Amino acid sequence: MSDTTLFRPTTLGPLPLRNHLVMAPMTRSRASQGGVPNALMAQYYGQRADAGLIVTEGVSPSPNGLGYARIPGLWSKEQVEGWKLVTGAVHARGGAIFAQLMHSGRVGHPANLPEGAELLAPSAVAAPGEMYTDAKGMQPHPVPRAMTGAEVRHAIEEYVTASRNAIAAGFDGVELHGANGYLMEQFLSPATNQRTDEWGGSIEKRGRFLVETARLTAAAIGGGRVGMRLSPYGVNAGMPLYPEIDETYRALVPAVAATGIQYVHLVDHSAMGAPKVPEELKLELRKAWPRSFILAGGFDRASAEAALQEGRADLIAFGRPFLANPDLVTRLERGLPLNAPDFGTFYTPGAKGYTDYPVSG
Ligand SMILES: Cc1cc2nc3c(=O)[nH]c(=O)nc-3n(C[C@H](O)[C@H](O)[C@H](O)COP(=O)(O)O)c2cc1C
Repeated sequence: MSDTTLFRPTTLGPLPLRNHLVMAPMTRSRASQGGVPNALMAQYYGQRADAGLIVTEGVSPSPNGLGYARIPGLWSKEQVEGWKLVTGAVHARGGAIFAQLMHSGRVGHPANLPEGAELLAPSAVAAPGEMYTDAKGMQPHPVPRAMTGAEVRHAIEEYVTASRNAIAAGFDGVELHGANGYLMEQFLSPATNQRTDEWGGSIEKRGRFLVETARLTAAAIGGGRVGMRLSPYGVNAGMPLYPEIDETYRALVPAVAATGIQYVHLVDHSAMGAPKVPEELKLELRKAWPRSFILAGGFDRASAEAALQEGRADLIAFGRPFLANPDLVTRLERGLPLNAPDFGTFYTPGAKGYTDYPVSG
């Protein structure tokens, strides 16, 4: 029996968890044609079922949100059937799994989107730089089309339907991806949201898309089964910093709390080259959140344990360590060395660098 908190059982709302470790969401681009999950993905997630909770890679709720090559979706019957393989593999090993709902918004390319889909965003502001496509290699980010009011409502409905589909596919819940520069954060940031209707302008209106989606998702599947990921000071996908960042998150977090969803998952991507999230802001948001609080970004066993002991978080998410170590929980608990992640195979098709990382012993 370990004397640390990290490896002890806990709960996440209605859900019992076997420990305090979360596998952080990681896009791995191994889905089959049409964004359909497959047996290889089931094997990958099943291998990592020792985590207290797995949060899947970003899963698009909409054909319009499938911006990257070979990422999965959760709007079609085939996708729901594919996900059943994944949830079945994780549950067979006693694990718990949430689907991360990620609409990529402006971050994408028509060459990656299914037929009939379109690159939509709050405003017609292109992401800087280029996007990888299987068909045409690297391509400049196109200018997205600004959503009409009806399309904003429709996008929210797509999250709600995807959350229902997630439950039908056997998921224990969903995480709304409000981080890393995708559609939700594109609404939140004044750099990408230049709307003058009820979805843009003031801090409150920029946050409205996130709050409304949380509220309606909670109404559909129960707040205890919903979380939201946030990344203040994140610069992924060409998101610039802006003066009122702290104020934005100080207003957003209580408004999301009022929707009744279970957790906030705060990421600090300074370990991946982003500016550090000020410690005071993290503590302030933690205090403003009435239920489970997850921290992610650059943790090891000692720093995770310290964050739990000091009450800075209820659960700790590990990304790259879980990617490279299917038996991460055992390795951390026994103090065994960790496999290093192979960056070259993060997003490449096939089993290499995906399901072939060795387990200890
Ligand atoms: C290959 C890879 C893919 C990722 N994809 C996602 C994603 O789909 N959704 C997300 O919220 N974060 C994504 N992230 C960020 C991770 O969830 C995590 O926050 C980050 O790796 C920092 O944690 P770590 O230092 O423990 O790796 C990704 C990270 C990596 C390395």
